[in-house]
Amino acid sequence: MALVGCGSGLPLHSLSNDDLSARVDTNDDWIRSRTGIGARRVAGPGESLTTLALAASRGALEQAGWAAEELDLILLATSSPDDLFGSAPRIQGLLGAHRAVAFDLTAACSGFLFALVTASQYLRAGTFKKALVIGADQLSRWVDWNDRRTCVLFGDGAGAVAVEACAPDADGLLGFRLRSDGRRADCLTLAQSRERQPLVGEFSAQVGGFAPIAMNGQEVYKFAVREVPAVLQELLAETGTEADQLDWLLLHQANQRILDAVAERFAIPNERVLSNLAAYGNTSAATIPLMLQEAVADGRVQPGHLLASSGFGAGLSWGAALLRWQGPKG
Ligand code: COA
Repeated sequence: MALVGCGSGLPLHSLSNDDLSARVDTNDDWIRSRTGIGARRVAGPGESLTTLALAASRGALEQAGWAAEELDLILLATSSPDDLFGSAPRIQGLLGAHRAVAFDLTAACSGFLFALVTASQYLRAGTFKKALVIGADQLSRWVDWNDRRTCVLFGDGAGAVAVEACAPDADGLLGFRLRSDGRRADCLTLAQSRERQPLVGEFSAQVGGFAPIAMNGQEVYKFAVREVPAVLQELLAETGTEADQLDWLLLHQANQRILDAVAERFAIPNERVLSNLAAYGNTSAATIPLMLQEAVADGRVQPGHLLASSGFGAGLSWGAALLRWQGPKG
């Protein structure tokens, strides 16, 4: 599987830490020092998960030099679709990717990495040739804006990567590991609300709906700083890669302290750690492709560069992938 194009979609409106401090009892200094976050984008009335994902998809197609009709597969990693039946088909329709099969995949903040690996299996098997992997979330509609422990962390956004089948010696997915541990599911949830409505006689039915995001921040922090280095270490050992061979560390953007702790564990200098937390916060499934797009666009990530990536989040779920960015042909 070769990674040949990427794109991003972001809401216009940016909400700074100072803006938020007018709503909840917080301040810029606390948020920056504990998380590295300075602002986050929040989707406005004309924006949605679909519009953000569409912008990201168009960017990735343009960079790859592909027409939408060439796509065989569209995978949308999201925990916040516009439609619980799935948002990928609507994106497929709006793109005009009429040949492509399109479906959603949910693995919270690990979703993009899980979707990228899923796409690679179809491409390596020869089932499909060209795929678009989108990571997108609009968590602003699911955070409790009165809960300062969580509302400062999340933002909206979308990123997409165009991937295509290739010869084994050109494969840009050099290795991967994926993990889940549902025993720790309660650490981070966006769970159904349990309200019921009376139906007939003694019968009642559950009313559809979800409670806002609930998180045990300290447990999630400990999980990330323990599991991410461990899974990366396994991946590096399995692929025979030394940390100093990596051009970039491309981690899920949840907290600068987590990025710093992982980088320190592998003695990777700050200049090789990609971070855009200050501008966007945690955009869940979108962070990795959004960060990749930014670093490709400004020339930091060059064709042939080796990136160690890791996603982690609710589930609990986590994983790592060793990637080589190819970029568009010619
Ligand atoms: N502004 C000001 N004070 C805040 C605050 C905010 N936004 N959020 C929490 N606090 C307060 C708490 O109320 C607490 O006050 P108290 O001691 O008077 O009770 C104090 O700060 C410390 O809270 P604590 O939860 O212990 O802070 P922390 O150092 O663990 O940092 C997180 C909190 C959320 C930043 C940190 O736990 C974290 O980053 N966890 C991982 C979260 C994550 O990455 N989630 C997504 C995974 S995909």
